[in-house]
Amino acid sequence: MVSVQLASTKHSISFLLFGTAMILATGLLIYIVGFSRSHPAYEKEHDALEDVFGPVQYINILYRHGARTPDSYLPTDPYNDIKFWPEGFGQLTQEGILQHYNLGGWLAKRYSHLLPNDWKQINKAIRVVSTDWDRTLASASAEMEGMFPIQSNSDEWKGLRSYPVPIHCLTDESDALLQVTKSCPKYAQLIKTMIKSKQYLDLFKNNEKLVEYVKLHSGKESLTLSDFQDMYSTFSIEKSRNYILPKWADKIFPEKIMNLVAASFEAETWTVEMKRLRGGPMVKQFLGNFKTKLAGSSLNISMYSAHDTTISAFLNTIDAFDSVPPPFASMVIIELRQLPKNDPFVTVWYKTNSSDPRLLSLPSCGDACRLSQLESLLKPVIPENWDEECKIDPINQPN
Ligand SMILES: *[C@@H]1O[C@H](CO)[C@@H](O)[C@H](O)[C@H]1NC(C)=O
Ligand SMILES: *[C@@H]1O[C@H](CO)[C@@H](O)[C@H](O)[C@H]1NC(C)=O
Repeated sequence: MVSVQLASTKHSISFLLFGTAMILATGLLIYIVGFSRSHPAYEKEHDALEDVFGPVQYINILYRHGARTPDSYLPTDPYNDIKFWPEGFGQLTQEGILQHYNLGGWLAKRYSHLLPNDWKQINKAIRVVSTDWDRTLASASAEMEGMFPIQSNSDEWKGLRSYPVPIHCLTDESDALLQVTKSCPKYAQLIKTMIKSKQYLDLFKNNEKLVEYVKLHSGKESLTLSDFQDMYSTFSIEKSRNYILPKWADKIFPEKIMNLVAASFEAETWTVEMKRLRGGPMVKQFLGNFKTKLAGSSLNISMYSAHDTTISAFLNTIDAFDSVPPPFASMVIIELRQLPKNDPFVTVWYKTNSSDPRLLSLPSCGDACRLSQLESLLKPVIPENWDEECKIDPINQPN
């Protein structure tokens, strides 16, 4: 504190200085307490993390397509008729298109430093990969429209509104990353084993009344966990379009079925072995992208357009899934941060609506995880050779 030597006013000035110091100290205390107590402090000033862990150098983005029309119906569903769904079955709706268009704009603002200044560099900065569905491809396309608007207003673009960005597509036969539809006999075998496990059977036993009730009213003779997942999606969509659910459905949707719906998302990555084959390829890819960046690649952004089950599989594989079905257009952002001469760190955000994303705390690692530590923590769920690990021992095959 400066010492003020004006004899007559000395006392009042030091009193003033003391008062100011107290106010500053209180402010600092409030700031520190507020900051350390909860994540929202990060959310408002997201790069409060920057001082400690460094600026974002690379992002992997994984999202679910936007709002869609239903693509599966119970036999007694009154809305199983195309006249209710002019977009077609399982297609992105206008709301869904706008969700991703807005997200694209949001990303461009939040990560403006990762985007090129010149459109000719776009392909050096971002790579977009989608599953082979109309709704994921169209979501990625809307996202790019929002993310890369034409910057100059010159006539040379003849009214074009955004720069085209290539979207790469994983066909069902080749997808060993997002939906994991590529053949994997070992995984199929693990699912069969799970379905016979006590834990799985108990789930149905403990919900016997509910299952019987749904069978009776839905017209479906046998029900699996994925039927409950489909039911949840279809009823949610119908309600959001103001179509009135049948009375029997209204009685159980959504609260009563949520246990089984949550389990349907967890079931794909029920065990460490299943995590390794279902969510592991994504963990491997995302961490691999970071390594490629650290080795000097120009790429700044990898984007993956996929499904609710892709998000739940990834989050459950890194032990950060909250068992809530990932909503339309929900997005996971996996950031690589680094300060000069420091170790690289990883931060993971989950954005489920139009509000700020939430910072996910990784088990055994916290809000930010040293890349090398994350790699060793996740080692058990990272496949070394997915194709080899998918093979089954022909002698030891249960049936
Ligand atoms: C990637 O991000 C860096 C750091 O902000 C930036 O300097 C660079 O121009 C970006 N790369 C491309 C190809 O735009
Ligand atoms: C939106 O997402 C945030 C962060 O996950 C959550 O805290 C909030 O409750 C959500 N808001 C609504 C309306 O669902």
